[in-house]
Amino acid sequence: MSEQHEQRKVILSGMQPSGQPHIGHFSGALKNWVQLQHEFDSLFCIVDLHAITVRQEPAKLRKATLDFAAMYIACGIDPEKSTLFVQSHVPQHAELAWVLNCMTGMGECSRMTQFKDKSAQHSENVNVGLFTYPILMASDILIYNADLVPVGADQKQHLELTRNLAERFNHHYSPTFTVPEPYISDVGGKIMSLQEPTKKMSKSDPNEKATIFLRDGDAEIRNKIKRAVTDSGTRIVMDEAGSPGIANLMTLYHLTTGMSFAEIEASFASTSGYAPFKEAVADAVATFVAPIRERFLEIRNNEEELKNILKRGAEHARDRARKTLRKVYKKTGFVEL
Ligand code: TYM
Repeated sequence: MSEQHEQRKVILSGMQPSGQPHIGHFSGALKNWVQLQHEFDSLFCIVDLHAITVRQEPAKLRKATLDFAAMYIACGIDPEKSTLFVQSHVPQHAELAWVLNCMTGMGECSRMTQFKDKSAQHSENVNVGLFTYPILMASDILIYNADLVPVGADQKQHLELTRNLAERFNHHYSPTFTVPEPYISDVGGKIMSLQEPTKKMSKSDPNEKATIFLRDGDAEIRNKIKRAVTDSGTRIVMDEAGSPGIANLMTLYHLTTGMSFAEIEASFASTSGYAPFKEAVADAVATFVAPIRERFLEIRNNEEELKNILKRGAEHARDRARKTLRKVYKKTGFVEL
């Protein structure tokens, strides 16, 4: 990486390789990553260490990790511009997490909404990793001194903890970490389930009809959108509280066509009933996803090249992470030889 590259502000973000990437991942995160990578020194990881906070089958985890990497590229992440790597390939994340663990209160972790949700969802396996999950996430971010973290709205609370930990360390020792800002889109930062539009679209939803996966075929996408749960109204207007299903479909239409909400409302003002609108959304989403799916298959079929990209990314990330960790260890009082 050139000197000039190093001087730019830093962004870091990541996704858990469990299940499959869906349109919520794209809207909340990937879309912004792709835009920001031209301006920022960008690092994007696949957070496999985080994924094992819930039980994973090893073969599936291995496959999903490569699937997510291929999907990042299929969505527009350019490995020549951005550093693309797998979290477990950079052991310094886990090492910094230990130091941060020792600076985090139990209460801070138990307040996390994602911890509460996931421990309810996986009540048979409420492990310590699930509890300290956000500290590892803070470590992912702070180890690169990221200025900005582009994520979906559900990650805001984790970012607040990250900021607190950075400030705490800086205050307790001396200025070390950049205090990062979240970057969350006003529109599309939280795509909702197609079946329960007051709930977030999620890769782990047992009802597959609730989620548009980026690898879904045309027919699947059209079916899912036509069957999306809406209310008994007839008008296409943006009203998240009163008509969350239509608001979600309008958000997907905006995402896939670029039309503003006012333009969408105007163009459907004279249609009655939701069917023509759903038809249009189905077309727009299917047309949008098709080239992503095709690029994904092409990239995923060349596993050797994909692994080479990840290898280069890990080497670069490790060089940077090592420098931060060395500073942290020194300030913490560990002996350097
Ligand atoms: P994860 O794997 O659940 O999701 C990856 C990214 O996608 C966003 N997202 C959504 N955005 C809008 N609507 C949705 N329905 C939707 N579902 C998911 C998430 O907000 C996220 O940005 N803890 C993180 C992973 C992580 C991370 C990090 C992120 C680990 N270390 C460091 C940033 C920086 C997570 O579980 O995301």
